[in-house]
Amino acid sequence: MGLATAELYLDRGWQVIAIDIADNPGIKSENLHWVKADVRNREQLELALAPIVKTAGGQIDTVANIAGVFPPTTLETYTEENFRFIFDVNVLGVLNVTASCVPYMKSGSAVVNFASVDGFTVSRGQLLYGASKSAVIMITKALALELAPNGIRVNGIAPGWVATPGNAATGRMEEAAKSIPIGRVAQPSEIAEWVWLLSDPTKAGFVDGETIVISGADVMR
Ligand SMILES: NC(=O)c1ccc[n+]([C@@H]2O[C@H](COP(=O)([O-])OP(=O)(O)OC[C@H]3O[C@@H](n4cnc5c(N)ncnc54)[C@H](O)[C@@H]3O)[C@@H](O)[C@H]2O)c1
Repeated sequence: MGLATAELYLDRGWQVIAIDIADNPGIKSENLHWVKADVRNREQLELALAPIVKTAGGQIDTVANIAGVFPPTTLETYTEENFRFIFDVNVLGVLNVTASCVPYMKSGSAVVNFASVDGFTVSRGQLLYGASKSAVIMITKALALELAPNGIRVNGIAPGWVATPGNAATGRMEEAAKSIPIGRVAQPSEIAEWVWLLSDPTKAGFVDGETIVISGADVMR
């Protein structure tokens, strides 16, 4: 979904700074600035961002916190190590990226955090992932309050089933689609459209602190 979002913004003429722990899988654009960094490391992010933001126009208009990890855990299988891993990437990562970007953000800009339907409803075998995404939903509300005086809105997206390579690899996507009332899973590009919409102050200027469920009526809250 990060790739789909980067591609959507690039297609619409934006400069995109893509932060990922992995290498660029092959997106070619002179407007793309690929930063190989770990969202768990705030110092690394701040050091990497400063020169790039300068060359990319000096300000950041939209921050999309999409990086996330989702290893299954239960009371039986959790360890301190996988607890730290899931919460550090999914929760601390959102805080680190947002804190590193806010100094470059002006009134009218926006943050969009990726939660999950698992942050609202229990998904069997996703003990810590669900808890981390509930934390993202609450952080979204708290940051909306904190950043409202700066004119920065903070919203979230809680996707249900999305046709990502990871989900395709499970071989369960077709089966999952049958149980979704709309009868299909979402495409990464349509989730990216919601990042675009939520970050647009002319369309979503009064939406703040909200996490939108996008699940084809699979999960309602
Ligand atoms: N796939 C789904 O159906 C689904 C549903 C609900 C929510 N989500 C959430 O949406 C987001 C995107 O999901 P996806 O399926 O596109 O994931 P993905 O696994 O395809 O991509 C995640 C990206 O995050 C990067 N990443 C992981 N750890 C990182 C770190 N420490 N620092 C920097 N980058 C790191 C990975 O390299 C990868 O490129 C995640 O937050 C996920 O929890 C996904």
